[in-house]
This record gives sequence, structure tokens and C-alpha cells, in this order.
Amino acid sequence: MRTQLLFTPLAGIETELLAVLATDTQTDKAPEAKPKPVLLTTDVSVLAAAEAVLSSGEFKAGANETLLWHGPAGVAAKRLLIVGVGKQSKVTAVSVRNAAGTALRFAKPRGLRELAFALPDAAISVPELASLSAPLAARAAVEGAFVGDFDPDTYRSDRKDQSIGSFIVAARAGSDSDEDKVAKATLEAAFAEAIIIGESQNFTRVLVNEPGNKLTPTILARRTVQMAEEVGLQCNTYSTDKLHDLKMGSFWSVSQGSAEPPALIVLRYEPKGVTEGPVLGLVGKGITFDSGGISIKPADNMEKMKYDMAGAGAMIGAMRAIALLKPKVRVVAVICAAENMPSGTAQKPGDVQTAMPLAAGKPGKTIEVINTDAEGRMVLADGLTYARQLGATHLIDAATLTGACVVALGMINAGIFSNDEETYAKFNSALATSGEKFWRLPLGDEYAEQIKSDIADIKNTGGRWGGAITAAEFLKVFVDETPWIHLDIAGVAWVEDSKPYIAKGPSGVGVRSILEWVRSY
Ligand code: BES
Ligand code: MN
Ligand code: ZN
Repeated sequence: MRTQLLFTPLAGIETELLAVLATDTQTDKAPEAKPKPVLLTTDVSVLAAAEAVLSSGEFKAGANETLLWHGPAGVAAKRLLIVGVGKQSKVTAVSVRNAAGTALRFAKPRGLRELAFALPDAAISVPELASLSAPLAARAAVEGAFVGDFDPDTYRSDRKDQSIGSFIVAARAGSDSDEDKVAKATLEAAFAEAIIIGESQNFTRVLVNEPGNKLTPTILARRTVQMAEEVGLQCNTYSTDKLHDLKMGSFWSVSQGSAEPPALIVLRYEPKGVTEGPVLGLVGKGITFDSGGISIKPADNMEKMKYDMAGAGAMIGAMRAIALLKPKVRVVAVICAAENMPSGTAQKPGDVQTAMPLAAGKPGKTIEVINTDAEGRMVLADGLTYARQLGATHLIDAATLTGACVVALGMINAGIFSNDEETYAKFNSALATSGEKFWRLPLGDEYAEQIKSDIADIKNTGGRWGGAITAAEFLKVFVDETPWIHLDIAGVAWVEDSKPYIAKGPSGVGVRSILEWVRSY
């Protein structure tokens, strides 16, 4: 998708479709109070063209509600599309991101290949918009457009490629004053960033969308190498031998039942001249298919377990964006990819595995395997240890780790856990920019009691209650005192029902927040 940022009056833009936002400014809460939609533009021609339809009461400017008509008077665009962003008191960058996706997904099935999207104009008298800076809105619009452009129908032989060829973001024309020039430059920078971020999120979604037979651990490694070469990241990939060398008994045990060899992928981002300060360690769960192993899952929905590498996907996508946006902080990513399968060589409930030792000569922690379906934490245990060994001073992991997290938070919020307030606070502030939803869940020694084993250091499940938390406690054993964040994205990595602004399928969640967290250092 080509993207362009224009500083020209809206009415003059020649395009197939011009999308303009509208908010509901009605503040009277009385039941008979009617919606008062107001267009978020100061362009007099567009305002005049929309006057009749807005005053008709047919359009309420609800979030992602759309209204289209052809040949708007006095406007060069062939069609005008009004996209609602809901009540004015609730308008944020998220509303703009979704509205852009909605506009794009409106155009796609109608065979339109181009559209222009009007940024909400700061000059307008909707107080809520004052806090929505133009750069943030521009970023949201472009990201939303990329999110909307993705469809998962890659393998349909009758696939009609409906992706959008050109997406124009229209900003206020402004004057030649120095102030306006600075504002334009800031907007252009935000716009350029957003393209990288949107493309990186879609890079993740393409990976997560792949079925298990098309994306084995080996293939995931190959595709990561290819991406790394394109964006200039260092990338090393290893398999079984390296796992043995590093004594990654926990990671290896998950892979031992599969005919597909595991892949350990290490990506390094080392900006020139940065030799001091933190080293951020990104660790991703890359189970390319999770059958459950010997503790096999029920057949219903098992096909979904191709997305059990979404944590790895998020880290790989974030690394792509990091390589292109070049923050001044060192980052190392460790991806643990394996297939979790039942077979004669698979690990069994009751087996005891020895995890990777932090330093040579030290003992590795022993793990009693109660349930072979609790495999994510087993691969991450060694991934986290390895990231520490590679010098990570701060850790973040992402994983589709537990069904319990989905029970707790549904498919709206992802779970977040942390052993360090400052590290958590940084992530939490990153959410204002990323617009993603994470909800913090607790850790605590009382929960750690649940994973004590009779015969080993720990066991890999903590029973039914607090399953997302005991899984996090398991990981915590391997991060020790290192400041750490754990993201459980099981419920949000896959969109179950399509929305006006996003297709059903992989969401690419995490990429934007992890990136912003990295940039905060
Ligand atoms: N990959 C699953 C978790 C999952 C569930 C991801 C639903 C996405 C949607 C994970 O490996 C798993 O099987 N977890 C078990 C752990 C249990 C055996 C302790 C679970 O949550 O049931
Ligand atoms: Mn599992
Ligand atoms: Zn899993």
C-alpha cells in the first residue's frame, strides 16, 4: 500500500473516496435527546456538502458507523464517506485508528483501490480533540489503515486481491509560518514512523496466520533471517545441537516428540556508539503448532493452535520496527520455536526435565512435567535464561500462554505481569501511544506454592485456580531478580469475529506496545 501525506484543502483532493470523521456532540443525557453529529473538519466545502445528510438525523456518528454518497457537491472526490467516532467525550487516538481501518475496509470489497482520509482538524471546537495531537492522530490513521488492509485469505485459489493501492492522509494545509513548518515536519515524521509500524504489525500477522505445515520452526527461522537481512539486523538460528550444547533441557523436551526440529532464533539490534545502558531482552513463545503433546487437546478448535507462535511473531515484528526506527538502546531477541506433538519420542507426564543453567557449572532448575500441554512456559524458561546469559538487563516475554488468562480477561485485554514497578510503569505509559489493551494481574509467593513439586524444584502446572498467575510464577523462577514483564496474549492474538476495522484472524497484538516500551529506554 502506497501512502502519502498531503497538506492541501480537502475539497480539492481528487480521489475515489474521501473519508471524513464525525463525532456525536450530544451531551444531553435525556432519553429523547437526539445525536448531534459534527464533522471533524473545518473545510467549508465538505461541511456544506454534508450539511443536509447530517441534519437529517439518519446518521448518528456512532463508532465506526459509515455513510456514503456519490458526487458530493463542491468536492473533487468521487465519493464522500463519513465515519463515526462515537461520543465526543470518548474520542481518542484509538477511535481515529479504528475509523481509518473502517474507511479502508469499506473501500476494499467495493473494488476501490484508493482513498483519502481527513485527519481531524485541531482548529475545530470539540474540546476532546485538543488532547489528541496531530502527530498522534496521523500515526493512528496510518496504523489503522495498515491494520485494515490485512486479510487472511492467503491460501484461497479464488483470492481477489482487494488490497488498497494508495492511502492518502490529508492534513490541514497550514501557512508558511515557522510554527506551521515545524508542525508539518513533526507530522511528517510521525507519518513515516507509522508506515514502519503498520507494516511491521502486518509482518507479524502474516507469520501468525500461517498454518503449522507452512510454518514449521525451521521455516519460521528462515523467514526471520530473510527479514533480518532486509532491515539490517544480526540474526543467528540454531537447532537441536545448540539446545544440547546450551543444556536447554526444558525447551528441548517440548520438541522431542515432533519430527520437526526446534529452532532457536537470536536477533540482535546494536545501535552504533551505544555501549552502555540497558540491554533489553525480548523472548517469544514460538510453538508453531500446539497439539498438547501426550496430554493431548480435544479436537474442537485444535486447528487454532497454529497461532501458538503469536508471542514469537510479536517479538519478530517488533524487532523489524526497531531495526528501522533505530532507538538508542541495545536489544536482543530470543525466539524459542518448536512443535508440541505426541509420539513415541514425546515427553510424558511425570518426566523430569533439567532447564538451562544460568552459568556453566551451575545446576539447572529441575521441572516435573505434570501436563505436556503446559509447554509454553517450558520453552520460555530456557529462552529467558539464555537472554540473561546474552546480557539482557531487562526482560519482556510474550506468549499465548494460558487459557486461564482468556477466562480471566476475555478477548479484550491481554494479561500483563511484572516483578518491577518501574519497568511496568514504562510499559503502561507505552499503551497510551500504542492503543493496545493490557490488564495487570498479580504475582505472589502464595501462588508460587502451587507449583512446588514433590520430586523436583518445580512442576509445570499449578492446578486449576489462578492458572495464568501460576504460569507467570513459573516463568519468574527463571528471571529471578531481573526486571521483567510477561505478556499473556492467548485471548487477543486472534480476532474471533471480524470488526469494521479489522479482519477475523491474527491481530498482531503486542508489536506496537513492545516497540514503544523499547523506545522509552
Ligand atoms: N497454547 C496454550 C494456551 C492457549 C489457550 C492459547 C487458548 C490460546 C488460546 C497453552 O500451551 C496451553 O495449552 N495451556 C494450558 C496450560 C494447562 C495445561 C496448565 C491451558 O491453558 O489449558
Ligand atoms: Mn499447550
Ligand atoms: Zn501452547
